Amino acid sequence: MGNIQLNIEKTLEFISKEKLAAYQNKVNDCMETLEKGTGLGNDFLGWLHLPSSISQEHLDDLKATAQVLRDNCEVVVVAGIGGSYLGARAVIEAMSNSFQWLQEKKEEDYLSELTTFLKDKKFGVINISKSGTTTETALAFRLLKKQCEDQRGKEMAQKVIVAVTDAKKGAARTTADKEGYKSFIIPDNVGGRFSVLTPVGLLPIAVAGIDIEQLVAGAREMEKVCAAPSLEENPAALYAATRNELYQNGKKIEILVNYQPKLHYFMEWWKQLYGESEGKDHKGIYPSSVDFSTDLHSMGQWIQDGERTIFETVVSVETPNHELHFPSDEENLDGLNFLAGKRIDEVNKMAELGTQLAHVDGGVPNLRVSVPALNEYYLGQLIYFFEKACGISGYLLEVNPFNQPGVEAYKKNMFALLNKPGYEEASKAIQARLK
Ligand code: PA5
Repeated sequence: MGNIQLNIEKTLEFISKEKLAAYQNKVNDCMETLEKGTGLGNDFLGWLHLPSSISQEHLDDLKATAQVLRDNCEVVVVAGIGGSYLGARAVIEAMSNSFQWLQEKKEEDYLSELTTFLKDKKFGVINISKSGTTTETALAFRLLKKQCEDQRGKEMAQKVIVAVTDAKKGAARTTADKEGYKSFIIPDNVGGRFSVLTPVGLLPIAVAGIDIEQLVAGAREMEKVCAAPSLEENPAALYAATRNELYQNGKKIEILVNYQPKLHYFMEWWKQLYGESEGKDHKGIYPSSVDFSTDLHSMGQWIQDGERTIFETVVSVETPNHELHFPSDEENLDGLNFLAGKRIDEVNKMAELGTQLAHVDGGVPNLRVSVPALNEYYLGQLIYFFEKACGISGYLLEVNPFNQPGVEAYKKNMFALLNKPGYEEASKAIQARLK
């Protein structure tokens, strides 16, 4: 099977081919800026050649650590947020049984319910935080560390708690060194949302029993493909150019679409990647996502007929992992015997095609990323494809795709409200506002 492919044909009645072709030089400049490291945020370009620089020794170390956790734990909790969580979850969900969620509880008292769930479990913890100081993660880790030590004893806890953090700084590093935990380093020059191919993503993915070597192999292949200079040969460059031209034509919202519920968290990962990278200086395409057919029955009307400021990018899996045929029924009470014998996937594909045509007719440009199969190799390709396109796209938009100054605003208010030492002035100011 070949690689993932991008098809932009169904955008060409909305944007001009000539204008799109004119992006060639701009895209080449952006790619050169990325390669030479001369643009904004150039101290965060470690992701660019990450796939080809991962050594076999590193993968073996990750796999061996994953095996220790698998051998000694029934459950492994990942404490992490944002870029320190979503990538791993995206790959694990895509490769897991769709009904795993029936065993999970995700309600408001999340941490309390988690600690209750863990009470009779042999569990381990992977504490992931680049800064090592993120409040939500640190808070969760303090609770989990104590529970693990109380339940399993200090010695076993030391074996089944692993840290993924900065080489030197932050509380997570201090704790790991002091307690003697196995730890992995997040490279300085890789930002959270670009870190899925570092131990941030690779370790939890390996613990879930998923093949990280294939994941990295797919990313390596895309690193090669997405280095091509021409728009025709480089899907990341073409995607970046097309979405920016659509944006210039008033299409301010991109909806990432899947027809495979397993890809739900992949969409969440993508939303962070593009939202946090491009939403700056009052610019940026708003990234949103839907799971079809489910959401056709909730968001379908808006997409077909609401404000015409949207475009869709469909991630389409060509071949399903399992075959299921629609049965015949003697009585045919539901009138569906015309589908008897067809593969469910055939029906899904017709839903996909029918939806694409209807949405394009309704004024929604449509890009399609086709994925030969849902496996580690192609997930690795998708990850690198979207990362590279994001770097190019951010530079086309003339923002720094590698920082996130906006995320700091809420943290400052939260610390002030919680009276964190050092935030006395901010605390006074916020209390005055609340009077
Ligand atoms: O992409 C990002 O930079 C963020 O989403 C971070 O990953 C997130 O805020 C967690 O930060 P940290 O890994 O420092 O705990």
